Amino acid sequence: MKKIYLSSPHMSDEGYEQAYIKEAFDTNWIAPLGANVDGFEQELSAIIGSKYAVALASGTAAIHLALKAVGVKQGDTVFCQSLTFSASANPIVYEGAIPVFIDSEKDTWNMDPQLLEKAFQKYTPKAVIAVHLYGISAKIDKIKAICKRHNTPLIEDAAESLGTVYKGKWTGTYGDYGVFSFNGNKIITTSGGGMLVSEKKEGIAKAKFWATQAREKAPWYHHEEIGYNYRMSNIVAGIGRGQLKVLKARVEKKRYIFEQYKEGFKNISDIEMGPDNLEQGDYSNHWLSVISLKSDTIKPIDIINELAKHKIEARPIWKPMHLQPVFKDCDFIGNGVSDKIFKKGLCLPSDTKMTDENIDRVVDIVCRMFK
Ligand SMILES: Cc1ncc(COP(=O)(O)O)c(C=O)c1O
Repeated sequence: MKKIYLSSPHMSDEGYEQAYIKEAFDTNWIAPLGANVDGFEQELSAIIGSKYAVALASGTAAIHLALKAVGVKQGDTVFCQSLTFSASANPIVYEGAIPVFIDSEKDTWNMDPQLLEKAFQKYTPKAVIAVHLYGISAKIDKIKAICKRHNTPLIEDAAESLGTVYKGKWTGTYGDYGVFSFNGNKIITTSGGGMLVSEKKEGIAKAKFWATQAREKAPWYHHEEIGYNYRMSNIVAGIGRGQLKVLKARVEKKRYIFEQYKEGFKNISDIEMGPDNLEQGDYSNHWLSVISLKSDTIKPIDIINELAKHKIEARPIWKPMHLQPVFKDCDFIGNGVSDKIFKKGLCLPSDTKMTDENIDRVVDIVCRMFK
């Protein structure tokens, strides 16, 4: 039996990615930048409705440069969603700034706007990082309004939510800066890579400058600032351009997988599906189908282990940042929600190559555990 993955790379059947790579080979635009990089930036911007973009080596690099672009410096406070992958928070520390973690709300699993407001009563942060976890939009309009009222820049970590539309706008386009990841497990992948998007022309120009070793315009190698080697290569960007052509199909398949699980588990009272669209017209990419268990007898790890016996990959929910030893000295504005989601939730296989039979097998194995 072939292994069923959580979320593995899925190249187009048409070979779009290879055509772009071939063009790069044929024209010897292997490195450093080139037509695929420009094309990937422009094409992604046009799809999501953002003005400017810079393609980077990773989503983490994009978060790092967003923090620099909004002026985060040593000793500053930055608010960050606690329930996320560590890459949302690590770049805060790269800059010598101090994260303060904010808990989630039940209905989106993302940053609780009320707790964000509460945190503003205690701190004056330099930036806020909100996340659209598992492809479910945060209440980003509310979060944005709070940030605006407190005159604080908003960075949207949309690493997992490319394709998610909330109240008519793509996630990643609400904040001062939006971040996408094309890591191997993401809804589209370039093997590794990221994108920083914004309406701010100067901010994106500055991010490009830092990402290319902060090389000043001079006939010699002249540096007035510390730079980074963060740009995406022209080969990698070719994969991205090809993947953009199948983004819509990938989102539809992820949504289909979520619906199949919902149907399959509808009679299991111990299983609660994770968050879905909040309002009519919202469109989640359901990057990973997540569930939580009401049961006290069966734990997420039991399901993960049982599926593993059948060569099926499932994963725990991200462990919140306020529970991570590396961030133990950071403040946390909490309400117990992310602790509970971590304890009770799990990510089911959501690979876009899954067949109906594969999905049925997962449903069957899980349902049998509750009988
Ligand atoms: C929520 C979140 N933020 C940031 C990242 C970092 O992206 P990358 O792996 O491209 O650096 C990821 C994924 O890896 C992620 O899931």
